[in-house]
Amino acid sequence: MFRLPGFSGCSSKLSRFNTWSNLSPPASRRFLAWDASAHVICPLLNTPDTVHDSNKGRNRHRERERERERERERERESEREREICAVMDNHHRSILKVVVAGAGGRTGRIAYRKLKERPDLFQVRGLVRSQESKERLGGANDVHVIDITKPDTLRVAFSGMDALIVLTSSIPKMKPNLNPALANRPDFYFDEGGNPEQVDYIGQVNQFEVAKENGFQHIVLVSSMGGKYPNHPLNSLGDGNILIWKRKSEEYLKESGLPYTIIRSGLLEDSEGGKRELLAGVDDELLHSKYRRLPREDLAEICVQVLIHKEARFKTFDSVAKPVGEGMPTRDFKSFFSKITTSF
Ligand SMILES: NC(=O)c1ccc[n+]([C@@H]2O[C@H](COP(=O)([O-])OP(=O)(O)OC[C@H]3O[C@@H](n4cnc5c(N)ncnc54)[C@H](OP(=O)(O)O)[C@@H]3O)[C@@H](O)[C@H]2O)c1
Repeated sequence: MFRLPGFSGCSSKLSRFNTWSNLSPPASRRFLAWDASAHVICPLLNTPDTVHDSNKGRNRHRERERERERERERERESEREREICAVMDNHHRSILKVVVAGAGGRTGRIAYRKLKERPDLFQVRGLVRSQESKERLGGANDVHVIDITKPDTLRVAFSGMDALIVLTSSIPKMKPNLNPALANRPDFYFDEGGNPEQVDYIGQVNQFEVAKENGFQHIVLVSSMGGKYPNHPLNSLGDGNILIWKRKSEEYLKESGLPYTIIRSGLLEDSEGGKRELLAGVDDELLHSKYRRLPREDLAEICVQVLIHKEARFKTFDSVAKPVGEGMPTRDFKSFFSKITTSF
């Protein structure tokens, strides 16, 4: 496979040692190296005479590594600076004060955490429905207990803030199946006061109206794909017409005059974020593709990035992700949003 070169070219360095075959394995490993470019094994000249040179080489290597790390750090710094500039450009101030409604929910709590991790860009206030949810989020003072169906409870929570991410949703619940022999399909219901008309329409309109009173600069509404199809099976759950009410709420926001971004998500799953290529679509076309899912972590990241990049404003898009390993994970959100052209 490969040839052993004669040691003639380096005899002065190696003469005090016997031959390759006499060297003990650790020593031979030290003195010989695979030269991939030449397809030969050749001696590494790190004999005692050359230890000094070798140390210098190692130091140079470490210095190059350190320089590369410094370069990466500079790149990270400038990326952060670009994001800060983008937020300032987008919202005309450096720290954006963001309300996350539904911060106790499965995506809401991730969005709340992600925003809190960026104090250079955001100040955050989380809205939850119960004291229990507040405790689960750590009980911080920036978490308010509210009910979106009661606008008065929203007023204090929204005052002094700039932007809103809406991650509230009605939640269909399965009825206990008392007689499995009779039931072909599970039945669903909504809690009293928690059906889609009350939560996904009235509750969301309340949020838009109170945001408007407070001069909010941006509303990010998380909605759902499937709104184009009145006969979508989700509409039959608990006779709630959930997608129909969500779509009505989108329309209300679009007509409200508030700067908005509407994200119509695919089926959510609790898997790791930042690992997948994200796709943006229009008009439920992605429902007919092989990609229908989106990790909650990725959805939360999209919400954060929407606030950073002005290219996402006044746009509505469907979103799903490719499986891990298919395509490159999405990192450049400015370009991701720039390619979206649909306002509704
Ligand atoms: N699940 C999916 O596959 C899917 C698919 C497409 C789109 N989406 C959309 O994606 C978003 C996030 O979904 P998710 O599954 O992460 O959410 P989730 O866990 O179901 O959370 C929804 C949150 O809304 C809150 N909420 C409900 N009624 C409220 C009220 N009257 N006042 C205040 N808060 C209220 C709930 O509070 P409590 O914690 O107190 O109940 C809950 O925290 C939702 O907008 C959903 O419509 C979901």
